[in-house]
Amino acid sequence: AVPRLPTDLTRLEELAEQRLEPGPVGYVAGSAGNGSTARANRAALERRRIVPRMLRDVHERDLSVEVLGRPLPAPLALAPVGVLSIMHPDAESAAARAAAAQGVPYILSSASSTPMEQVAEAMGDAERWFQLYWAKDREVTKSFLNRAKAAGFSTLFVTLDTPLLAWRPRDLDQAYLPFLHGIGTANYFSDPAFQAGLAKPVDEDPNAAVMHFVGMFADPAKTWPDLEFLRENWDGPIVLKGILHPDDARRAVTAGMDGVVVSNHGGRQVAGSVGAADALPRVVEAAGDRLTVLFDGGIRTGDDIFKALALGAEAVLVGRPYAYGLGLDGQAGVEHVIRCLLAELDLTLALSGHAGPATVSTDDLAEETV
Ligand code: FNR
Repeated sequence: AVPRLPTDLTRLEELAEQRLEPGPVGYVAGSAGNGSTARANRAALERRRIVPRMLRDVHERDLSVEVLGRPLPAPLALAPVGVLSIMHPDAESAAARAAAAQGVPYILSSASSTPMEQVAEAMGDAERWFQLYWAKDREVTKSFLNRAKAAGFSTLFVTLDTPLLAWRPRDLDQAYLPFLHGIGTANYFSDPAFQAGLAKPVDEDPNAAVMHFVGMFADPAKTWPDLEFLRENWDGPIVLKGILHPDDARRAVTAGMDGVVVSNHGGRQVAGSVGAADALPRVVEAAGDRLTVLFDGGIRTGDDIFKALALGAEAVLVGRPYAYGLGLDGQAGVEHVIRCLLAELDLTLALSGHAGPATVSTDDLAEETV
């Protein structure tokens, strides 16, 4: 039997390293270059400290928020993490079911190991958010948007920080990349527009299908005016994921976008990048009330969520911790991660003098100078 997972979620990575296969766990834990951005994400949160307030009647508390016009039980969503079958055979469906059970939105990656329609079915009535890797091929992108709409996804997250896969030494050294095994291609291989670009059906020449996928899954030639295409083809809210500079937030407003995720992809793209929490205040300021600002990068505990809220995020996404929870204990492991984060957030709010997220501000933080 799998022992109970620890309630200190910062220990999950170490457990995953011990118990899971080196290739998959290296892919999840790994980051760009020597890992300096992933460390900067943690440091930017650690450096900020909460200054608790007393005697403020916190006996009744409510974690709920409204994000992108939708009521959420808490300022938390599961970040899009592709290729989850490397962690557990139930993959994205198990993570989506866990999120649905806890009422937390699940952002399905377009690089999922299970087709979006199948994951949508696992989600019941829960809020469905879809993350797009913006393919080179317009027809494939259009087809993905139509399929996501038809499968009941309401909100589109467009990831901008991955026009190329970064230099990731752990994957290079282990010669392990899920995509080269055809993992993370389920939405593509099942797509009629993708299939139309192949000389032979996927099962007759899987290698050619993988190479076709590698060549078209992202597009380093895209520029801001290209967003018009997405705006025209998606009726619901659009959120740009991977924004770090305030000018890019302003451009998002001009392009008619609804929100941004301040994110450096968990430190997996640009080594030497600014810690995500250090980039957050300037983006929040630039966004004003014109954009919803979400945040991810290094969130491991309830107090990390509190700090991101204090810096101006409306909600946070969490990535690796739930991937480890899935790898270690399937759906139950993901639910464990969500429950721990929410319980710890609730206690952190209460013990810091807040009955809910709305009253948290930069006034609740001090910055360590050591
Ligand atoms: C990711 N991330 C990601 N982002 C995205 O937009 N689409 C994707 O398919 C993936 N896939 C993915 C796989 C793995 C294994 C990881 C660890 C991350 C990035 C993810 O959404 C999020 O930005 C980070 O994971 C947040 O940082 P933490 O919480 O992992 O520190």
